[in-house]
Amino acid sequence: MLAGKHILLIIGGGIAAFKSLDLIRRLRERGAVVTPVLTRAAEEFVTPLSVSALAGSKVFRDLFDLGDEAEMGHIQLSRVADLVVVAPATADLMAKMAGGLANDLASTLLLATDTPVMIVPAMNVRMWEHAATQRNLATLLGDGIAVVGPNKGDMACGEHGPGRMSEPMEIVAAIEAKLADGPLKGRRILVTSGPTHEPIDPVRYIANRSSGAQGTALARALAALGAEVVFVTGPADVPPPDGVEVIAVQTAQQMKEAVEAALPADAAVFAAAVADWRVSSASDRKLKKTKDGLPVLEFAENPDILHGVSQMKQGRPPLVVGFAAETNDVLENATAKRLRKGCDWIVANDVSPATGIMGGAENAVTLISDAGAEEWPRMGKDAVAQKLAARIASAINT
Ligand SMILES: Cc1cc2nc3c(=O)[nH]c(=O)nc-3n(C[C@H](O)[C@H](O)[C@H](O)COP(=O)(O)O)c2cc1C
Repeated sequence: MLAGKHILLIIGGGIAAFKSLDLIRRLRERGAVVTPVLTRAAEEFVTPLSVSALAGSKVFRDLFDLGDEAEMGHIQLSRVADLVVVAPATADLMAKMAGGLANDLASTLLLATDTPVMIVPAMNVRMWEHAATQRNLATLLGDGIAVVGPNKGDMACGEHGPGRMSEPMEIVAAIEAKLADGPLKGRRILVTSGPTHEPIDPVRYIANRSSGAQGTALARALAALGAEVVFVTGPADVPPPDGVEVIAVQTAQQMKEAVEAALPADAAVFAAAVADWRVSSASDRKLKKTKDGLPVLEFAENPDILHGVSQMKQGRPPLVVGFAAETNDVLENATAKRLRKGCDWIVANDVSPATGIMGGAENAVTLISDAGAEEWPRMGKDAVAQKLAARIASAINT
């Protein structure tokens, strides 16, 4: 899938640099041409010889190497690729990129390049969570840099948390999605997915049975058609797809804020099962059994995200798609929902327990638009996602 694609791989000086050796191998297996660049610090972790042997290419290391400038100048080097990938992206490299510094070969290439850039951060959890790194991350996202990971887990330094570099195959998937030539190339699509959790107290919450499987499959199918997908997900059972920008939230209110921050988009698909109500009397301490009787929960209505986006006066995505999970009178309820919300399409499904759809592997949907209702046969959630993604592609390209 990467045949003929050219990746300029900048390896930063982090303990995870060894994973970049496997990344080179995986990229080349898929037909990519890899030109490696090592920072000075990276050479402490991997040798130029092993990088060069795996890449089947010269390794570029120094801004002021006259031989390199004669063979290929640093500006030219920054432009040869279809994609510049920084893996691992150290805290230092992220800071240099955010600040526009250019004091070594890697940072100069990153400032001089006019091709898309993807970073794969890897660092100690405290470094990752530091306000400076988070500020730099926000700047880089704002500059249109794609970010893969980091993952949560045990780290080489013995600590635990976010900061682990994504695995080579996750990075490959993200690169494939970024470079995919499909009908949605250059299109930005927002997808919400999963349930929301509405707290009762710090340890209890109200949720629903949505697994996130359909929204995840849809995000994956849209990315496979070349879309840049922003995936806003509640606490789902299934892991988010690779190759998309993941924004994890818990509550409906957080999902609303994440959706608003992710716009504008060419299309927005609201597959999340958002709780209609939250507990307005949520306690900030764990509720205890008392002799005074049972606790009384008071509810407040949650923001209606689908309605809010559908009714936007400015910046409304040209295609807004809602999902309707119904247990009775599916068609009637979903048709009414489309009109009430003001969205363009509703994907209706019957989630009554007998169907096994909620949390299951299959779905049977009816697509409702102003052209009427179109019943699709029952099929796997991946197949529904691919069919819907193809429909979205043809709708926003006409
Ligand atoms: C053993 C060791 C492991 C390190 N691991 C990381 C790391 O995983 N991530 C990171 O951002 N910095 C790490 N550092 C610090 C960087 O090597 C240091 O900031 C260096 O200046 C980065 O240079 P570069 O960004 O030019 O590659 C590590 C340092 C040492 C000594």
